[in-house]
Amino acid sequence: MLSVNHLLGIKDLTRPDIELILETAERFKEVLNRPIKKVPSLRDITIANVFFENSTRTRLSFELAEKRLSADVINFAASSSSVKKGETLLDTVNNILAMKVDMIVIRHSSVGAPHFLAKNIKATIVNAGDGTHEHPTQALLDSYSIKEKLGTVENKKIAIIGDISHSRVALSNIFALQKQGAEVMVCGPATLIPKYIKHLGVKVEHNIMNALRWCDVANVLRIQLERQQGKSFPSLREYALYFGINKQRLESLDKKIVIMHPGPINRGIELTSDVADSEHSIILDQVENGVAVRMAVLYLFAEKIKPQ
Ligand code: CP
Repeated sequence: MLSVNHLLGIKDLTRPDIELILETAERFKEVLNRPIKKVPSLRDITIANVFFENSTRTRLSFELAEKRLSADVINFAASSSSVKKGETLLDTVNNILAMKVDMIVIRHSSVGAPHFLAKNIKATIVNAGDGTHEHPTQALLDSYSIKEKLGTVENKKIAIIGDISHSRVALSNIFALQKQGAEVMVCGPATLIPKYIKHLGVKVEHNIMNALRWCDVANVLRIQLERQQGKSFPSLREYALYFGINKQRLESLDKKIVIMHPGPINRGIELTSDVADSEHSIILDQVENGVAVRMAVLYLFAEKIKPQ
């Protein structure tokens, strides 16, 4: 059983929690490769996907994971809801729960929104991304994908490259990778790397070639223009010139490294298309694995609330 009652962040998970989720995901991946991809595990569970921010991969893969597990599913998008008439987050979620919902999967632009709900409502909360804080299921599917490709996460060298300051994927990955015994480096312009990061025990690098030469895996992050207050670098062209990963840079290495990206990709900025679509890239494997990993998360939390 998991040691926590909500998935608020990787920070709260133990290594055995992470291992349990990844082992369970492996079983669900096998189910997803069968002709009949559906199992009855969550037949009595109702889940609401409550999204206050845009999403393609996370929302669709949670919904698919829920349906593959036979849960009842409702979807809420803030942009077409009574939030537009001024309803609060707590009122919105309490009204959803009045319809006998067991679990809330929430994405919100405010850091701590899932934690606030966990304190104030009686339902299991799964964080699908809170502002610039954590994106735990992304980090879990990233670890799953590294393990699938390289056999293990332990002792691997992972460079997280790009806009670390505005990324929830970075922090969740740092926690997940370190808990599993990986070495982590962050690489990007100094203006996109928060000062506190070195206290988390990660290496900090500002030269992309040094990062690529060091790592086994480059997890490349999107430049999050929508979250940047001022200009963190002179131009996107200059960012691509100094930090973008292109075929030429990869071919100058004396080894093959794995390229990951949580999506959506700014093609031609953090990654060129010939890298994103190359044999180095496991970007679409990450998306595929997201369904199995989210099935595992939902299944393990449902185990905690189902009557025995
Ligand atoms: N990786 C990720 O969170 O993508 P979406 O924003 O499309 O869900």
